[in-house]
Amino acid sequence: MKQSLLLLLLSILSLNIEEGEDVITIDLSQEEAEIPSSLYGIFFEEITHSGDGGLYAEMIRNRGFEDGNLPSGTMLKDGHAVAKPLHCYSNDSINHFKIAWHDSLYLEGWEVKCDGRTATSLHKITDQKPLNRATPHSLFLNLDKAQSDVWVINSGYWGIAVTKGEKYNFQFYLYSTDLSGCVVKVALIDSKDQIVSSRNIRIDKDNSWQHYEGTFTADASANDLRFALIFPDKGKVNIDFVSMFPDNTFRGHKNGLRKDVAGMLEALHPDFVRWPGGCIVEGLTMDNRIKWKETIGDIVERPGEYNLWGYRSTYGFGYHEFLQFCEDIGANGMFVCNAGMSCLFRNGDYWTDERQVDDLIQEALDAIEYAIGDTSTTYGRKRAENGHAQPFPLKYVEVGNENIGLRYARNYNRFYKAIKKKYPQIEVICALMFSPYLQETEELEIIDPHYYETAGWFYKNADVYDKLPDNIPYKIYVGEYAAIGRSSLYSSLAEAAYLTGVERNADQVQMVSYAPLIEHAAHGKDHLLVLKNDSVYGRTNYYVLKMFSENRPDVNLSTVLKPAVPATMFRTKGYIGLGTNNTEAEFKDLKVTVDGQKITTAGWEDFAEKWNAIRGSWKVDGEVLHQSQKGIDAFAILKDMEFEDCTIELKAKKISGSEGFRVVFGGTDLKNYFMADMGSHTNESVIFREMNDEGSISLFDYRNTTSILANQWYTVRIEIKGDHWRCFLNDELQYEYTYTLDKKHYVVSGYDREREEVIVKLVNAEAENWKVRLQLDNAVSIASEGTKIVLSAVDRFDENSFEAPLKIVPVISGLSGISDSFSFSCQPNSLTILRIPCKK
Ligand code: AHR
Repeated sequence: MKQSLLLLLLSILSLNIEEGEDVITIDLSQEEAEIPSSLYGIFFEEITHSGDGGLYAEMIRNRGFEDGNLPSGTMLKDGHAVAKPLHCYSNDSINHFKIAWHDSLYLEGWEVKCDGRTATSLHKITDQKPLNRATPHSLFLNLDKAQSDVWVINSGYWGIAVTKGEKYNFQFYLYSTDLSGCVVKVALIDSKDQIVSSRNIRIDKDNSWQHYEGTFTADASANDLRFALIFPDKGKVNIDFVSMFPDNTFRGHKNGLRKDVAGMLEALHPDFVRWPGGCIVEGLTMDNRIKWKETIGDIVERPGEYNLWGYRSTYGFGYHEFLQFCEDIGANGMFVCNAGMSCLFRNGDYWTDERQVDDLIQEALDAIEYAIGDTSTTYGRKRAENGHAQPFPLKYVEVGNENIGLRYARNYNRFYKAIKKKYPQIEVICALMFSPYLQETEELEIIDPHYYETAGWFYKNADVYDKLPDNIPYKIYVGEYAAIGRSSLYSSLAEAAYLTGVERNADQVQMVSYAPLIEHAAHGKDHLLVLKNDSVYGRTNYYVLKMFSENRPDVNLSTVLKPAVPATMFRTKGYIGLGTNNTEAEFKDLKVTVDGQKITTAGWEDFAEKWNAIRGSWKVDGEVLHQSQKGIDAFAILKDMEFEDCTIELKAKKISGSEGFRVVFGGTDLKNYFMADMGSHTNESVIFREMNDEGSISLFDYRNTTSILANQWYTVRIEIKGDHWRCFLNDELQYEYTYTLDKKHYVVSGYDREREEVIVKLVNAEAENWKVRLQLDNAVSIASEGTKIVLSAVDRFDENSFEAPLKIVPVISGLSGISDSFSFSCQPNSLTILRIPCKK
């Protein structure tokens, strides 16, 4: 027996390591990154009816008959809302932004019925009798033309739900002619138009707007009701601002939030709440951006705005309500302001004119004053008038959202200076991700990279922040992250794996928030909370976040994972090819060498026989191969040849489009291959990428920030050696990566100083048990019993649902047999948190 093997055996025996156990050594004497209380927060944006029809408790949809208003900054043309053809801030293109539009939107959620049938000739939307300037439209009814009672029905947000014994407060405005003294019946009706509750309200005055209100108490629970105003008499009437709220809102606020939904958010113990977005901060056009001043004050006078996620926001859950929510749940507010540019994936128009930017900066300063200014200031006074004299807990302002480029950096510099000058205590977040334009900023506190990637990406890149240089001059706030694709425990554990890396590097990554937060089930997306009118459930990633947030230690402890069996080294092997993504490009002078020997060259004359053009439009033009199709990921491979260690060289030129070019290698079939992706992430970096059955996984740590310029030839060289790949542009190393075949096992540990407990977080995303030996070094004392909290399921693709909302939730139980070295088995497909009382 060799000496090293003997030593290994001896050490195994001395530690009592069982066969197949990985060893996790936690050294209590070695504290690492401090973990700030700011780490886990939430990000609210009005998307997929997260607010209207979601968190915001309003039960009537399109309460002010304003849903047909065009998005600000657009005009109606040929059935479309068309934006002005202004230049996009990122590349000066004209995006010709438009969306299909129809006047029928004014009646979204409403139906007028007479004699049991839908009526079309009794009513119209009008702005002739504006209730106020901000919301001029109302529904006009000519009851004189009706043969029987006229029912004006609202179906709420996909049905109205009531709970037995609960109270519901309604209100509406009428402007009547010849109806004074008559009665309007206010009713809740079922799906067969049967009245289940009603109130008769006497119309007290004609020829002016009058306000009416009342309350229902539900006799029985139901979730398929509608709200109706029933007019039995002749006359004419305009109806506006029809609203109904449960009496029992979160913390009892009048213009309040749904108790169940807000309660689920509060249970995450978020340290901060980001509001109002997201892309809606930017808007379809600059005019369409959220203007916070329109979101405060009397809800009857809030104009609302079409939001770029496809419906009109009421602005009911406005700036004041957001700040109130922060206060209610003990969180810090994070307000996001527009930085002078609309969303570059929409119209992208921008303001850089000094006066316009000054106005935007003032808008942001006024928002801060509203939140924290004293009541002698203009906006502090407004806050008091709106019922809150004390300041709100606003701590952060983010300048813009997902912006890029020099124009952004210049505007950011101006916002930063102005905000810091007046409010040095506010922490200012820069919306740039890891981007070359960071160099253009004068001062940086925090940047905001976003990650919408596949589960595979999160597993592969759980260590992404371990690779950050120690000396980056800013902190990181991951404002949005989500494992996209099939919603399941598997994708939630991918996020858990990623969060172990976040926590380990919490001295640099100081805040994270998942996105999007809430979806109405009618949208069929997969966000953290899924709701409908009568219920809400948390997906498994809600519980992942809750477990991390509730078990946040104060400081990391040195944690070393030694696998029992080292991972086998990966050997790259397979076909090679070329590609582009949404980009037109040209390629020439391809050469592949193995061991210094030229194996293949391409002048492209034999492209048709030797290559397989899988996607795209590939044409040979002399010595140049041209790929012209945009809007897809184009891809062509060299047939019948397999390469291992090799060097791929060629020249490539981007013609136009949003990215650069790609060199494919290690392909085993059409779904499984790797690539050097030059100009990935809308041309922000050069990285490697893996394509596999789960989708596309970018293999990067975001340190690379090279963009591909159009209309110039680049010399490209890709070196492949075993598991290691290097990508050069014009002979300069851009990015290198070592591909590993590690098991999906992740661990991080830390110390809770107050409770004197070691907290160990273990993610096992494999389908079998993960046997570990936990070794706690340098503890003064260790209790023999602790606690374990486990989130797991037999089927990794399982998920919670309305039918089984609590199918996969954390299970808390005792943990016994703890010592300075003890065995533990993590269940298949699980996140396990151990809390071990330990003195140090
Ligand atoms: O979370 C949805 C959207 O994704 C956000 O609005 C935006 O910031 C990101 O692109």
